[in-house]
Amino acid sequence: MSEADRVMGIDIGGTGVKAALVDTASGELATERVRQPTPQPATPAAVMETIKELRRQLQWRGAVGCGFPGLVKSGRVQRAPNLDPSWIGYDLAGRLETELNAPSVAIGNDADAAGLAEFEFGAGKGVAGTVLVVTLGTGIGSAVFRDGVLLPDTELGHLEMRGKAAEKRAAASIRTSKRLSWKKWGKRLNDYLVHVEYLLGVDLFILGGGVSKRPERFFPHLKDVGCRVEAARLGNGAGIIGAAMFPSRRSTRP
Ligand code: BGC
Repeated sequence: MSEADRVMGIDIGGTGVKAALVDTASGELATERVRQPTPQPATPAAVMETIKELRRQLQWRGAVGCGFPGLVKSGRVQRAPNLDPSWIGYDLAGRLETELNAPSVAIGNDADAAGLAEFEFGAGKGVAGTVLVVTLGTGIGSAVFRDGVLLPDTELGHLEMRGKAAEKRAAASIRTSKRLSWKKWGKRLNDYLVHVEYLLGVDLFILGGGVSKRPERFFPHLKDVGCRVEAARLGNGAGIIGAAMFPSRRSTRP
């Protein structure tokens, strides 16, 4: 493993902030994964302190890639549906550069990060056609690929279904907060995937997030989906691995 390929990947989530050093050439974690609960309220200053703590734990001074659970344009947060409203307009890339004094910092959407990792090292490797990586967690994240090329910043978790954003019905967090059975939640997810498949002509869905570790619980309920559905191979680690890929594969400064 070359030292030059090492990047700290950070995955900011609604319940936890996770990080590890990643060997971006192999897609493997070069250290253990460190995690802190997302501070409540999840303000930018509080989350920045959490990130600094994670970096201290990893004893890292090199390049950093960060996946954010919302829309980020040119390094600035435009939307953050599952975090504190004070994130809107926050210069995340600029603040990370200053606070961490890192040689390079790149940020992007968390689901895009997971998608990039799955495409390079996981279930999407070499797959042509229209592939949608869907992350199921606090919200629903989407990463759309056509012949392996990412269309960044899609927000298909906010597609309206039955009068509300799909993620308010079918995110993994809704299963627990509403105490839905796997069957009941699986049917909601089925309806969502059928809708998206219809709109985009999807060839393959790759389902990520913590629940991807237990596909046997809900895959049997995805009966009406007319295309292939697979569980993410990198599981919850995809967000960290893909975030670490941002500095080399994607510029946040157009
Ligand atoms: C956000 C997305 C994010 C997803 C998963 C949604 O609420 O709008 O940008 O990817 O949650 O965190």
